[in-house]
Amino acid sequence: MIKGGVPLHGEVTISGSKNAVLPIMAATLLTAEPCVIRRVPNLSDVKFMAEILKSLGAQVKLDGDTLQVRAEKIKGVGDYELIRKMRGSVCIMGPLLGRLKKATVSLPGGCIIGARPINLHLKGFEALGAKITVEAGYVRAQAKRLVGSDVFLGGRAGSTVLGTANVMMAAALAEGVTIIESAACEPEVVDVANFLNSMGAKIIGAGSPTITVTGVKELHGAEHEVIPDRIEAATYALAAAATNGKVTLLGARPDHMHAVLDKMRDAGVKVERRGTALTVSRNGRLKPVDITTLPYSGFPTDAQAQMMVLMAVTPGISIITERIFESRFMHVSELARLGADIEIEGPSAIVKGGRPLSGAPVMASDLRASAALVIAGLTAKGATQVNRVYHLDRGYENIDGKLRQLGARIERVEET
Ligand code: EPZ
Repeated sequence: MIKGGVPLHGEVTISGSKNAVLPIMAATLLTAEPCVIRRVPNLSDVKFMAEILKSLGAQVKLDGDTLQVRAEKIKGVGDYELIRKMRGSVCIMGPLLGRLKKATVSLPGGCIIGARPINLHLKGFEALGAKITVEAGYVRAQAKRLVGSDVFLGGRAGSTVLGTANVMMAAALAEGVTIIESAACEPEVVDVANFLNSMGAKIIGAGSPTITVTGVKELHGAEHEVIPDRIEAATYALAAAATNGKVTLLGARPDHMHAVLDKMRDAGVKVERRGTALTVSRNGRLKPVDITTLPYSGFPTDAQAQMMVLMAVTPGISIITERIFESRFMHVSELARLGADIEIEGPSAIVKGGRPLSGAPVMASDLRASAALVIAGLTAKGATQVNRVYHLDRGYENIDGKLRQLGARIERVEET
């Protein structure tokens, strides 16, 4: 339940990155030795991944934001139901294939934001010599030996983030050299590569479209601190601007957020940086800007919905084009319930901004759409009820607590 109309003020600490910690948790399967991961966000997706690691035979201990994993003896088949429920778990395939030369997981189904096939992941595994079979809802990868090779991971929307991480993890224990072309350049991929290198892997070029992996015989345990979540940071920055508040993000990585901060500045938002602290406030009247989502370092698709809310409260017309996922405008019809004027034309949404929003009951459909509905509720006059907040808990640590810390009138109540 949100009572809107209060500008957000104060400081908020950014948690560890969901999209970095999930593949890093999977990477602990590459060694029998203990691994320690720090700044692990308290999210339902993290709990899911921990259950999946346990179902494979690993010992897992989560103590506050520190995770200890020891995958001494593991099996190559993960729990069907657990894996089916969380797409991100597909990234256990690379580590299992790398270490055991076999991996079986339930085929991830479609998702509300798009078809999300894993053909590029499988193409990468095949290039390393794995045989792929799909049967009874399972996808199986098996190989006598894994041998380094060149693989091109470019697809319909550019590269694949988890596909790059998956192939990199399998190649880390392959014989010889693997060159991944059209690799994803996201900071989360770099964080996975840094963790793998601290385990003894030989990976260069992460963060660029060409990654070279020289396989090694085995990997050892390691300790790692996960990068801060750039999408969580972008969400609080956009909430500050949309509510006409002033918020300082602590522990963020502004150097991972250039595209979002650049567009915010264009829209008339003031962004001040002091070390890892980022202060966001309005700088006079907001201006409409056009956005196209692209692979990193372009504008992130995971901040598209939240940016749309800022444009919905900005007088003028802006065009938001989604190039990564086919159907990532589920939030548009719910924003219309709050009075926003947005029309969808193919891959673009035309936002006629500036109309005041008013509170209403709305339904969350996916993680980032629900974050957008929360921001809209914070700007709207009256009360907004956001239903199905379990979507939010998948990717935002204690979002209602952090927002209350910034002065928001927000409360988590049992759904009636
Ligand atoms: C990661 O998903 C993130 N998830 C997503 O964040 C994010 O939206 C996405 O990258 C893009 O930035 C995690 O890291 C857990 P992709 P991923 O493979 O790796 C197509 C969030 O809100 N594709 O880079 O699954 C695919 O359909 C989530 O936190 C193929 O065609 O995304 C999509 O259109 C949502 N074949 C595009 O590529 C493949 O084999 C990019 O997908 C793989 C992908």
